[in-house]
Amino acid sequence: MELKQVLMSRRSCREYTDQAVEAEKIEAVVTAASLAPVGVPRDGRPHLTLVTDAAMLKQLGGLFGPERDIIYGAPALVIVSCPPSRPGIPEMNAACVVEMMALEATDLGLGNIYLYGVTMALQNNPDLMKTLGIPEGHTPLSALAFGYGKEPVTECKAWEEILTRNTI
Ligand SMILES: Cc1cc2nc3c(=O)[nH]c(=O)nc-3n(C[C@H](O)[C@H](O)[C@H](O)COP(=O)(O)O)c2cc1C
Repeated sequence: MELKQVLMSRRSCREYTDQAVEAEKIEAVVTAASLAPVGVPRDGRPHLTLVTDAAMLKQLGGLFGPERDIIYGAPALVIVSCPPSRPGIPEMNAACVVEMMALEATDLGLGNIYLYGVTMALQNNPDLMKTLGIPEGHTPLSALAFGYGKEPVTECKAWEEILTRNTI
């Protein structure tokens, strides 16, 4: 896809088919993450944890209770965790990483969604963080869920009134 078309097509996907994501597409999404800009890299880069195991996805999706799935049944999830750094840097790094993955996933025809809620729930669950192999001292800050969306994205609207022009 042209870059512009990728930008116009990225929209949060909250309904997925059961189709597994091909290994090479997962690889491409992770590679896109590794191309993200990183602030204060000497404090350490973001770490990625890939989850495709159905039982673990179910457990993560239910972290806020059984009545809703906070990862929307997506067949793949990448959790981004960061080491401590200057104020705001870990969160911003995590956001850059997720957006790079979101755009790559969109380009590959995969539905995807930026998730904060699942990482917030994980922060209160050190045992599960350990099971997932999240590095000691890292905080999970953002995640991308992805897979084949039930509905193709057809139309996107840009925000209105995003820009204040300096007319001086
Ligand atoms: C920082 C951030 C955190 C988000 N966390 C969640 C989340 O935990 N759960 C969720 O359903 N959507 C989450 N979203 C998706 C937003 O709800 C969505 O991007 C927004 O409604 C705009 O819709 P769009 O992505 O289709 O453009 C998050 C988005 C961002 C940027």
